[in-house]
Amino acid sequence: MVSLIAKVGALSFDKPGMVASGIMDETGQSMVRMLGCGAGAVVSKSVGMKPNEGHANPCFTETEGGMVNAMGLPNPGIELFEEEMKVAVPHGKIIGSIYGSGPEEFGALAGKMEDYGACAVELNLSCPHAKGYGMEVGTDPRMVRDIVSAVKSAVDIPVWAKLTPNSHILADIGMAVQEAGGDAVVAVNTLKAMVISPEFARPVLSNRFGGLSGKVLKPVGVRAVYDLRTVLDIPIVGVGGISTWRDAAEYIMAGASAFQVGSAVLTEGPCVFECINEGLEAFMHDYGYGSVSAMEGAAHERGGRSNRECDRGVLRHQDVRVRME
Ligand code: DHB
Repeated sequence: MVSLIAKVGALSFDKPGMVASGIMDETGQSMVRMLGCGAGAVVSKSVGMKPNEGHANPCFTETEGGMVNAMGLPNPGIELFEEEMKVAVPHGKIIGSIYGSGPEEFGALAGKMEDYGACAVELNLSCPHAKGYGMEVGTDPRMVRDIVSAVKSAVDIPVWAKLTPNSHILADIGMAVQEAGGDAVVAVNTLKAMVISPEFARPVLSNRFGGLSGKVLKPVGVRAVYDLRTVLDIPIVGVGGISTWRDAAEYIMAGASAFQVGSAVLTEGPCVFECINEGLEAFMHDYGYGSVSAMEGAAHERGGRSNRECDRGVLRHQDVRVRME
């Protein structure tokens, strides 16, 4: 028997895949729709203190293997978002994503999300293009520590921190989250990127640059999760370019306890979760992994097949099964 239940610290999810922040999660109804599609939870669009219109169009463009967007964190503000949470929360687990300029704002926003019934808060410390927000506050380990501490003092629900791949000190940032009492890290947000139109001789996006997501991001995210796993004790939620069960398996084997899917909800449709769940279940059955946690971190030398064994193709299904028992 194979179980797809995923545990992230004290939280347990029926399915290991969640809807990543920013996709089909701006309204209560869209979150309800996604909860019915085989996702274990939905992370809301990032919400701030005040209503925000976001950037002018064009704020989204496609590129080879992915997409680049700079929506500009559009949201109705935390007060109005209560209405959306009221609609969604009775239907499943909602993780409230929030963005702020510093510890005080993050603490206040987290308190509201807890009041609205969120099962956890996800701190957006990683939007690659928001002046004074996102990765501008999330790449300074001292600031990250202060923000996570403030949020931990403000709420009783688990505090997750979503990290940026646009930093060479990712491990230090992850350690700052852990030292401040953070319950999990979410890795990774989008990569800062730009697309230029040769005909118009200017950047396509009105904001000029934005965040790169989609298939092309996967190896970056998998590497980030793998490295974070070697230094952190708190759980990691993997995100970045997941559209198939194989992608999800890579993240779990790199060390993720659960994963999120963003761009693939657009490219594959909401049914992407059912496909991933089915594929993952079949793979786990064939290769003798009884649970998601049994697969977690399997690619690390301690837990996985050694490279030498893989190179020689020594281990077959049955051998793996014996090893897992
Ligand atoms: C936006 C926010 C993000 O965190 C991100 O990675 C990309 C875009 C936005 O709202 O613009």
